[in-house]
Amino acid sequence: MPAYTEHRPKILVIGSINMDMVARIEHIPQPGETVLGLGYSFAPGGKGANAAVAAARLKAQVSFAGCVGDDDYGRSLRQNLQSEGVDDRLLRTAEDAPTGYAPILVQPSGENSIIVFAGANRSIRPEDVPAMFREPVDAVMLQLEIPQEIVLLAGREAEARGIPVILDAGPACSFPLEQMRGLAIVSPNETETQALTGLPVQSEAEARRAAEALRARSGGADVVLKMGSRGAYLLTATESRLVPAFPVRAVDTTAAGDTFTAAMTVAYLRGLPLSEAVRYGCAAGALATTRLGAQPSLPTAEEVEAFLAGQEGA
Ligand code: RIB
Repeated sequence: MPAYTEHRPKILVIGSINMDMVARIEHIPQPGETVLGLGYSFAPGGKGANAAVAAARLKAQVSFAGCVGDDDYGRSLRQNLQSEGVDDRLLRTAEDAPTGYAPILVQPSGENSIIVFAGANRSIRPEDVPAMFREPVDAVMLQLEIPQEIVLLAGREAEARGIPVILDAGPACSFPLEQMRGLAIVSPNETETQALTGLPVQSEAEARRAAEALRARSGGADVVLKMGSRGAYLLTATESRLVPAFPVRAVDTTAAGDTFTAAMTVAYLRGLPLSEAVRYGCAAGALATTRLGAQPSLPTAEEVEAFLAGQEGA
């Protein structure tokens, strides 16, 4: 393991946490149709918690801020964060809503369809946000699966302290990117990019145009546009190029994007150039697609290193 993994950056993730129900099916039922499922399991998920656990498995020091309900799913998710070494002191138990819940339908191709019942993820209160910043961190990771008001407020708190913000702009929604403060990197996938810019992202040329629009709207933040099995389009002040993905046999793409952004962030905070950090993110994201479920699929630092070493030897 290279010595650089000994540097353990401190990351605050403010985001969603869900119990996922992963159902394997042959095809998605049509209205009025009943299909027999192939199997199901429950696993910890939520875009925020997935990113937190992904970063912790890559040896970052991670603190997670969010909300669960006062129920068995909430207790189990809190315990899971603890067992992953994620600091859960900023995870509040809300009295007014159940823990977030996400049924995920996975087809044999590995493609997924997700329904999110946000529940307690909506219970993060604006007055909770300043306390999340009491301890110093190297970066804040945010996604859009919690109230936008909280995301914007967290950006302002981060900017006031000079903390860089990495925004994984999922799930797809319209979001006032211009109002977001403290942004160092914005990283949506193709559909999220279309929702944010109105621009399609089919080709590399379209990715570049959309990335330029995102960069302009985000006040000059670096853009890392996730393009699934094609890789990620990187646009900074000095670089504009597609970083190719690593080909793997995908079983389930759930949480691949969350893993990518977390891994890229960890590598970037360790001092790698952003293009190298994106490559590291591509490796971690590719590995996440080779296993079923969200957090059960997240790779360790050792797995990512071994995978990258294998690519160099190939
Ligand atoms: O990105 C995957 C995640 O989206 C799942 O874990 C699910 O909970 C939803 O948040």
